[in-house]
Amino acid sequence: MPTTLEILFAPAEFALLGQRDLRQTVCVVFDVLRATSTMVTALGNGAAAIAPAAEIAEALGIRQRQPEVLLAGERDGVRIEGHLTGGIGFDLGNSPREFTTARVGGRTVAMTTTNGTRALRACAPAAAVLLGSFLNLRATAEFIERQHPPHLLMVCSGTLEQTAYEDVLGAGALCDLLWPQYERGAVSDSAHIARRLFRIEQDDLLGAIAQSRNGRRLMSNPDLRDDVPFCVQRDRFGLAAEMGKDGLVRIQG
Ligand code: MLT
Repeated sequence: MPTTLEILFAPAEFALLGQRDLRQTVCVVFDVLRATSTMVTALGNGAAAIAPAAEIAEALGIRQRQPEVLLAGERDGVRIEGHLTGGIGFDLGNSPREFTTARVGGRTVAMTTTNGTRALRACAPAAAVLLGSFLNLRATAEFIERQHPPHLLMVCSGTLEQTAYEDVLGAGALCDLLWPQYERGAVSDSAHIARRLFRIEQDDLLGAIAQSRNGRRLMSNPDLRDDVPFCVQRDRFGLAAEMGKDGLVRIQG
């Protein structure tokens, strides 16, 4: 079967995924700053599972049904506090450095973020949904190489309604690793663009990402600035993370 490799750059594109037949497609969702990086870190540090919730009310509903679940997430980049929830402060924000073994080991985390969890949910009808980040890039590439899905779709979560530079770099880095498997198939211009951009920026990824809209926002906050170098680390975790048909994200395999 001829393969396809495509990247969606903007939230307006993933919002239309409901109109596509994704039954033979593997999606890889990137929210480098920070949702997918944070979820990968949580799993790498022993969290049992992540339940991505598109909205705050949905995360609160999970907690109501399962009181042992931790609540995590952000709005405007900071931890969700009681004024947005009718009084319930979230346990964690969206900083990967908060998701230590001591905080999340053995726990399920219901998590809602502005873009990342929405992007994950939009991909739910796909054959498989993987979480992409620099932190688990090689393990994700190796998992895809083993499965060799005919249709590979990388989804950049973006920032609000815009494309995010760091997500395009993450998708480009994964394209670069997988190029030998997919280059003879139908490769979209978006995949060429992302791979080319990654190759231009690869020697100073931190510098490039620190200049992005999200990077500048995080760098200007003393509490969050260290998230940027954290999320740019390559292959800190040797795990592939998959959102299963039950909607939970777990370590694959
Ligand atoms: C998101 O999901 O929109 C991001 O992860 C935002 C953030 O950096 O907190």
